[in-house]
Amino acid sequence: MTGNEIRLSQYVQKTEAALDTALPKEGGTLVREAMLYSLLGSGKRIRAALVLEFARLGGAAESQALPLACAVEMIHAYSLIHDDLPCMDNDDFRRGQPSCHKKFGEACALLAGDGLLTLAFETAAGAPLPGEAKARTIAELAKAAGWQGMIGGQMMDLDAENHEIPLETLQKLYAMKTGELLRVSALLGCIAADASEIETIAQNYTSAIGMAFQITDDILDVTGNTEKLGKPIGSDKENGKSTYVSLLGLENAKKEACRQIQLARLQAEKLEDSGFLIWLADLILNRDH
Ligand code: IPE
Ligand code: IPE
Ligand code: MG
Ligand code: MG
Ligand code: MG
Repeated sequence: MTGNEIRLSQYVQKTEAALDTALPKEGGTLVREAMLYSLLGSGKRIRAALVLEFARLGGAAESQALPLACAVEMIHAYSLIHDDLPCMDNDDFRRGQPSCHKKFGEACALLAGDGLLTLAFETAAGAPLPGEAKARTIAELAKAAGWQGMIGGQMMDLDAENHEIPLETLQKLYAMKTGELLRVSALLGCIAADASEIETIAQNYTSAIGMAFQITDDILDVTGNTEKLGKPIGSDKENGKSTYVSLLGLENAKKEACRQIQLARLQAEKLEDSGFLIWLADLILNRDH
């Protein structure tokens, strides 16, 4: 393994170990089991890695940032549970296993999503940070996940089904539904480190990554392999989604993803220790899952 691969796998391991203790293994109602099922599935943990890398770049102790890494992964897991519901994308598989609603039923999956969303804020509130910084992380996270961020983007995504939308609308949709959670992940790392001098670079880098991430997700929905992806392919077409691929075709979508990764690299290069971020940007572009 290369140094960057080792670093990413350490971030993943640490995050998963912390997530593993976020909920008891027994007790309560079925909703706890459904939350754990979706939270501990085999995610790539890219958002957690962004929190931890920017915290490291800014000089925070990892223990300060780890609860924030868990919080973004909880919000992400909740967003996937709801995204798969029959009233949204109606997908039966996620992370290589039946979607939460297929395993636990729709009502329980809905509540498991709600449970993870609220647990995220409980977890962030437990981060060992000064009060002001902690309050800011919570406010930023809420805003990025909410109606002006991921939720707003998900609504635009549903509104854009079965008809063509202008490219600018699609770009806004991607920036909100996918970009915002990635952006805030990097920002939380900076806040944990009290490193305001790298906040702009962090957000510019992750905004570009966010566009490339969603375009690549859309490309994989067409060209990917269900087993590798762990989720169904062809879902976007089936749902009449507006995507970069449906609007501009595969080749132009690939070109735009590459262009966004170039922009992300240029941002990362402004930092002294940018090797991991540059490598991660390329990984996001060249991934097969
Ligand atoms: C999937 O995100 C949803 C999108 C925003 C495209 P990921 O591809 O990061 O999903 P996991 O966490 O690795 O399963
Ligand atoms: C991103 O879009 C979903 C979220 C913001 C949760 P998709 O609907 O394309 O994500 P996948 O392909 O189902 O993972
Ligand atoms: Mg969706
Ligand atoms: Mg989906
Ligand atoms: Mg998709």
